[in-house]
Amino acid sequence: ASADIGLIGLGVMGANLGLNIAEHGFTVSGYDQDPGKGIRLTDAAQEQLSEPERIKAYSDIVPFIAALRRPRAILMLVPAGAAVDTVTEALSPHLDQGDILIDGGNSHFRDTERRLQTLTEQNIHFVGMGVSGGEAGARHGPSLMPGGDPAAWERLRPLLEAAAAKVKREPCVGWLGQGSVGHYVKMVHNGIEYGLMQLIAESYDLMHRGLGLSQEEMGAIYGHWAQGPMGGFLLEITVDILGQQDPLGEGYLLCKILDSAHQKGTGQWTSQESLALQVPTPLINAAVTQRVLSAAKAQRQQASQQLGGPIELAPIDQETFLTHLGHALQGAMQLTYTQGMHLLQAANQHYDYCLSLELVASIWRGGCIIRSQLLEDLRAVYQRNPDLINPLLDSDYGAALTRTQEGLRAVVQATACWGLPVPGLMAALGYYDSYRSSWLPANLLQAQRDYFGAHTFQRIDREGNFHLEWGKK
Ligand code: 6PG
Repeated sequence: ASADIGLIGLGVMGANLGLNIAEHGFTVSGYDQDPGKGIRLTDAAQEQLSEPERIKAYSDIVPFIAALRRPRAILMLVPAGAAVDTVTEALSPHLDQGDILIDGGNSHFRDTERRLQTLTEQNIHFVGMGVSGGEAGARHGPSLMPGGDPAAWERLRPLLEAAAAKVKREPCVGWLGQGSVGHYVKMVHNGIEYGLMQLIAESYDLMHRGLGLSQEEMGAIYGHWAQGPMGGFLLEITVDILGQQDPLGEGYLLCKILDSAHQKGTGQWTSQESLALQVPTPLINAAVTQRVLSAAKAQRQQASQQLGGPIELAPIDQETFLTHLGHALQGAMQLTYTQGMHLLQAANQHYDYCLSLELVASIWRGGCIIRSQLLEDLRAVYQRNPDLINPLLDSDYGAALTRTQEGLRAVVQATACWGLPVPGLMAALGYYDSYRSSWLPANLLQAQRDYFGAHTFQRIDREGNFHLEWGKK
C-alpha cells in the first residue's frame, strides 16, 4: 500500500486532478464504479505522464482501499448532494480511525457541517474543500479551499500545494479553518462568479444590441479590458467565445446559443445566506434572478409583444460610451467582490470560522473562475485590516470606485433610456450610492411601520422608543 491519495469519481474533475497530482510526483489510486472511466484515466496517464504507473484505477472498492498508504487520504469528486452520502456510507466500513476523507464537490456548507459531525464521531478526519477552475484548472492547477478537521491539514498540505495553481510561486491553497468554512468560501466564490458573469453579459448586450458592434469589435474591446486592472479569467474566455466559429454551420457560434441560463444552485445559496445574515448583496442577487428570468423564455417572448419600451433612443457618442462602459464594468466587478467579502466577514463572525480574508483573496488570485487583477487590491485591504467588515471602508480600495463611478452612472443613465436590461449594473450603482449615503429614507419606513403596526421608532434628538397614534387629529 503506497498510494498517497485515493480519488473517488473519475469523471472530468477527478481524472484531471488525478493526472495533475501524479504529475507532481505523488501516487494516486482512483476509483469509479464505471470501469470505462478508470480505463480512460489510465490511457490518459500513458499519453500525458512521464511516469504513468503513478496512477492505478479500480472499479472495486477493496483493492482501491488496499492500495492507499496510512493514514489514508481519500478525495471524493462526486456530484454534490445524495451521492456524497452514498459514497461516504459505502466507504465507512473500509476506513480506520485517523483516515482522512475530503469532499471536493460543491456541497452545501450545512451538509458539510453534518458530515463533519458524523465522521468526527467515527474518528475520521473530514475536510470540505472548495475546488475551482473547471477541467483545465483541475489538470494544470486549481484553486483549492480546504477546511474542516485541522488534523488533516499537515498530511494533505504537500500534495495540495503541489497540485494547486501558483501566483508568483505562491500556491492557491491554504487551510481556511474549521467546520464548513471551505464549502462556505466556495459558495461565496460562486456567488461572485454569477455576479461577474452577469456583468460581462450585460456589457456584451450593450455593445451588441446597444451599439451594434460586431463580434470582432467586441472581442478586441474585451481583449483590451482583459489586459487592464479588471483583467481576469472570465474576460479572457469571453474573448475566445466571441471569436468562436460555429462548427455546425456558417458564422459565429455565440449568436446561435439559446439565451436561457441554467444553474446548479450555488449562486442562489449565496443570496439565501446573505439574506439570512442580513448582508446586502444586491448585485449577486440580481445575477441569480437574471438567470431565472432568462430561463422564462416563453414568458419573455409573450411579454415582448405586449409591453412597451422607450419611444425614442437618445443618441450617444460611441467612443465616450465605451470608455464609460469599461469603467462601469470595472467598478461593478469590484462591487461584486465587495459584496462577497462582506458576506464572508459576516459569516466569519456568525459561525466563528476564524477565516482570514487575506488568505481567501490570495487563494482566489489564481486557478479559479473569478481570478482577476482586482483580487490583488482586495488582498492588500485585508493585509492592512484583517477584520474590516466591508472593503469599501478602506480608503485606497474606495478611491478606485470613486474614479469609476462616473462611468457607471453614465452607462446606467444611457441604458435606462435605451430600455436595455442591466440589472447587475443598476444594482451596483444602487448599492454604491446607498452605502455611501449617510442618510437613507428609512425614517419614513419606520414611521409607516409604527403607523400601521405600532412597531415604534427611535428619534435622532432623544433616547428611547416612541410610538404615536398616527392620523388622529
Ligand atoms: C468553479 C465553478 C464550478 C461550478 C460551475 C457551474 O469554480 O469551477 O464554480 O464549480 O460548478 O461554474 O455552476 P452553475 O451550474 O451554478 O452555473
